[in-house]
Amino acid sequence: MKKLTVNLKQLITLLGDGNFHSGSALGEKLSITRSAIWKSIAQLQELGIIVESVKGKGYRLAQPLLLLDATQIEHHIQTTEKNKLAKLELLHSLPSTNDYLKEKLTLAQTAYICLAEQQSAGKGRMGRTWISPFGVNIYLSCLWQFQQDLSTLAGLSLVIGLAVVKTLSTCGFNDDFKLKWPNDILWQNKKLAGILIEISAETYGCARTIMGIGLNVNMLSDNQQEITQPWTSISAITGNMQDRNKIAGLLINQLLQHISIFERQGLAAFLPQWHGYDALLGKEISLQHGNDIISGVANGVNEYGQLLLKHADGCTRAYSSGDVSVRKLVTQ
Ligand code: BTN
Repeated sequence: MKKLTVNLKQLITLLGDGNFHSGSALGEKLSITRSAIWKSIAQLQELGIIVESVKGKGYRLAQPLLLLDATQIEHHIQTTEKNKLAKLELLHSLPSTNDYLKEKLTLAQTAYICLAEQQSAGKGRMGRTWISPFGVNIYLSCLWQFQQDLSTLAGLSLVIGLAVVKTLSTCGFNDDFKLKWPNDILWQNKKLAGILIEISAETYGCARTIMGIGLNVNMLSDNQQEITQPWTSISAITGNMQDRNKIAGLLINQLLQHISIFERQGLAAFLPQWHGYDALLGKEISLQHGNDIISGVANGVNEYGQLLLKHADGCTRAYSSGDVSVRKLVTQ
């Protein structure tokens, strides 16, 4: 796992405003030579941070950047939720926050949350990659030990999706966000956030669970051609750069609240809300389920969080996993 040197961190903080800074001014502020500044700028570029260099003006970031900061994040977490946090860890660059917590599985206490500025091998559902550039989005994983059997965790991913949309409205983004079963967060049919839950079942009715959330916050469209599906970010929706620390803090708050309620009351407590966000309701869809492609009209989810599909033969069946693509809207 790469660590940012103090100099590099300070350099990002100085350049973070998006204005030009001359090499000599930066060198003076950091008490290092201009050539050391030049080397550090090259290191920033290696991290994927785009730095523009203009003769006579100096250096500036292509996009303003504010690093994640534990104090600022914690400022947005209520005391009741903060009390549930055994650990909040901020990391710079690592393969995947989910995999990082997997290494801590046996030792860690509930709740252990980590965030990274960048993931070099971010994981999505169905073996996909989650594109995770430095300093622009939220890549968060939460380890929680449920004192209950694995079978009771059906529907957890729906609840985490709700925690994300609730965070967006708490932040004041009142747009029409939708949840696509099982747990994509969409805006105008473009993906804004995704969730990857990994469960390590254990004996004696306890299940250690890692909940990973990737939320596109300040990602720009012009430098992300690698993403193969339609996507968006909060800054693209609102037209403004957003404060990741505030969003991360409010997200942690909602996440811990939702997990605790789920632990006590199960999915039933959330189903009415979830139905209000259902992106698939009434749509003709295809579900990739193992090697099969199953078609039908989406008819909500049941009490186990399974997708209900009405088939051409008139029967409705429930599916617990798969990848959905929308074919068309059915008008009745
Ligand atoms: C998906 O929609 O395909 C799920 C995306 C999940 C991405 C998050 S980012 C934080 C955590 N670490 C990972 O490697 N993946 C999840």
